[in-house]
Amino acid sequence: MNADKTEALSHRIEELKRKKKAVILAHYYTLPEVQRAADFLGDSLALAIEAQSVDAEIILFAGVHFMAETAKVLCPDKKVLIPCREAGCSLAESCDAAALAAFKAKYPGHKVVSYVNTTVEVKALTDVCCTSSNALQVVRSIPEEQPIIFAPDRNLGSYIRKLTGRENMVLWDGACHVHEEFSLERLLALKREHPEARVVAHPECRAYIVETADFVGSTAAILDYCGKSDAREFIVVTEAGILAEMQRRYPEKHFIPAPPDDESCGCNNCRYMKMVTLENIIACLENESPEIVLDEEVRRKAERSILNMIAIR
Ligand code: 13P
Repeated sequence: MNADKTEALSHRIEELKRKKKAVILAHYYTLPEVQRAADFLGDSLALAIEAQSVDAEIILFAGVHFMAETAKVLCPDKKVLIPCREAGCSLAESCDAAALAAFKAKYPGHKVVSYVNTTVEVKALTDVCCTSSNALQVVRSIPEEQPIIFAPDRNLGSYIRKLTGRENMVLWDGACHVHEEFSLERLLALKREHPEARVVAHPECRAYIVETADFVGSTAAILDYCGKSDAREFIVVTEAGILAEMQRRYPEKHFIPAPPDDESCGCNNCRYMKMVTLENIIACLENESPEIVLDEEVRRKAERSILNMIAIR
């Protein structure tokens, strides 16, 4: 998109935000111009916390569906809009509520820890949610003798199991299509090309990628690490949208996206996050639709598991 068009669309969004008393919350994986239109930009945990204290009548969530649902769970009296209803998440899709209920029945006495990348119905069956920022603290807050079901990300789950040594943690077999696609071979080749670079990775990556990394953390933790590190160069093993914020914050540093197995791609993008555009943000604010609407009983149960998570921080 050319710069004039982007500016005109961004200007229209500012007008609509004022007129409708709306704020935009956006995840780091969205398009750079969408990130710039946001009032608050963050990782999953920061966005959930921010949603609780937003002073506005409308929250427009520039991200994927489960994130907007989480905001609605925490702010039932606000109108929560999502510009693209089809912006889903492969992790959330990998775990439906009926299947999780059957899994729970197979493992009686287990507490359920679910990643926020789940539907509101799954959160309603969950004891405590977690994000990649706080999964370790959440699991550590549960007494060691208490068995756990960890859903739905098997990679994050096995990473946490390794860090805590918890054998009594059963993992759901789900994964993020973006983080599972990184190529070890191409990553090792990049490391050889850039021997001074630090490798930073998201814990949703496969174990062999995580083991290669100098730092493993959520998107927000990776951003902090890159700022504090004395290194000048980083190989970034997470969704490529985060590079916009990295370059904005640390223009003197060099960020190299890690590539997937597919030789025709230089980096990994989440097709769902990229469904949010300036155009559909405008349409969404104008029409105040699509809106997130939740069943109140399910919402209340889901709220408990999210608040349990926020209390652990
Ligand atoms: P964080 O925002 O917790 O880093 O996770 C992003 C995400 O949804 C990855 O799938």
